[in-house]
Formats: sequence, C-alpha cells, structure tokens
Amino acid sequence: MKKFPPEFEALLTKTGRQVLSGRHPALSGVLARGTTRFIGAEGLLDAAKSRALAGVLEGALGDRLMPMEQPIPRGATWKMKVAYKEKLPKTVKVSTAMLDDEKSPSRERAEDIGLIAMLRSKSFHAFAEALSGYPLRRQWGMQTLCYRPKDYSGPHNDHHPDEPLGCDGYTDLHLTFCNSGVDHQWIVYEKDNHLQEIQSIATVGGVTCYRLPFWHYTTPLVAKRGHDRDARRWVLLGTFLDRWS
Ligand SMILES: [Fe+2]
Repeated sequence: MKKFPPEFEALLTKTGRQVLSGRHPALSGVLARGTTRFIGAEGLLDAAKSRALAGVLEGALGDRLMPMEQPIPRGATWKMKVAYKEKLPKTVKVSTAMLDDEKSPSRERAEDIGLIAMLRSKSFHAFAEALSGYPLRRQWGMQTLCYRPKDYSGPHNDHHPDEPLGCDGYTDLHLTFCNSGVDHQWIVYEKDNHLQEIQSIATVGGVTCYRLPFWHYTTPLVAKRGHDRDARRWVLLGTFLDRWS
C-alpha cells in the first residue's frame, strides 16, 4: 500500500466494518451510551495496510512537520505563593502537519498520498458517527501529529468554552500508526473525577475515539533499544461537532 485509499472504509477489517454498519454489540455507538468518554480499539484496521501506511506518512511528511512545544512556564513553580495551589497550563512537545491550512508545507504532500481525500471521505465521517453514536456535522477538522521519543502531551481537557458550537461537547476520532521502533506510549484519562484509567496507544492501526472534554494526558513516547532516532507514532485526527439537523 503506497497511498491512502480514497475511502476510509477500505482500511477496515471485518470487525471494523461491523462497527461501521452499527452491528458491533460492544463498539457501535459506544460513547453515546454515556458510560465512558473514551474508547480505544485494535483490530478494526487492516494490520498489513496500517504498517505500510506508517511508512507512507514518514516518507511524505517526515521532513514537513512543524514542532509544537509548550513547556512548563517558570512561573507555574516560582510565582506560587502557597503550597499545593499549583496550576499547570497545557504542556506539550510533538510535531504537527496542519492539514486544514492549504498553505502549510505539508498540505501538498498530504494530497499526493491520498491522505486529505481519505480524511474527507464519507466513510470516515460515517465511521466516527457509528463508533461514537453521535450525529456529527458533515464538515470537520483534520490534523496529523507525529510523536518522536520523549514527545508527550501534559494533562489537559480540550474544553472550548468560548466556542458556541463545541462548548457542550464534541467528538474526536484518531487513527494511530506506529513504526516498529516504538516500545510504548500510554494515554491516561479521567474516570469518576480521577486520572485513573490507562490504555496503550502504541498501536499500528489502533482507533481511539473521544467525547471531549475530559481530562487526559499522553505519556512520553519510549523507543525500543537502538531506535531513539527513528521511532515514530503517527496520529491522524478528525474533530467533529454535533449535527443538530
Ligand atoms: Fe487532547
């Protein structure tokens, strides 16, 4: 597989298609049931195609990424007046390709490998609806992230109180493509008001779906021995607002 297929559906396994058609007893519509705001699943995307696509992403976008870095502000520690009242804004270290921006250096490459078409495909939207269980707008945002060793994102909740259309909740669908150099990376997320849930996101063809906002963080990526220079976790993201009509 040298390019992304025009329709996302072509990457799905039999189980993945079951989710898409609303027939998977555990996964179809899982977030709208209200028992969890996060779901991670493997075995929905074809394994061999997913391994190949990690290489396609590296070849096309590996040298076109923009660093995104928000360190811990010095004042978060040294301007404190009282013990245990610390406040940490979102911290992050990762690279990104802003696919929504038609002038971004990665956009043309992303089009060449069929990535834009697939993330814009009807079945990508349909899959986000089928897995989450929420009716979603037919226009959505997309992005690509690349985690290298030590890249992470600190605790944050992705709440947008200033965004009238998303302030009551919205849905993210993420596809993960690790290359063979990745040892581990985890998402830790909120359940019952504690950061007590944890799941591996060091997958090849793993799918994660979020009903935001909720608190979560992504641990630093750890490479296998000898792979500190080449370990990569690629993430393709779709961000969907609710559809009300
Ligand atoms: Fe997040």
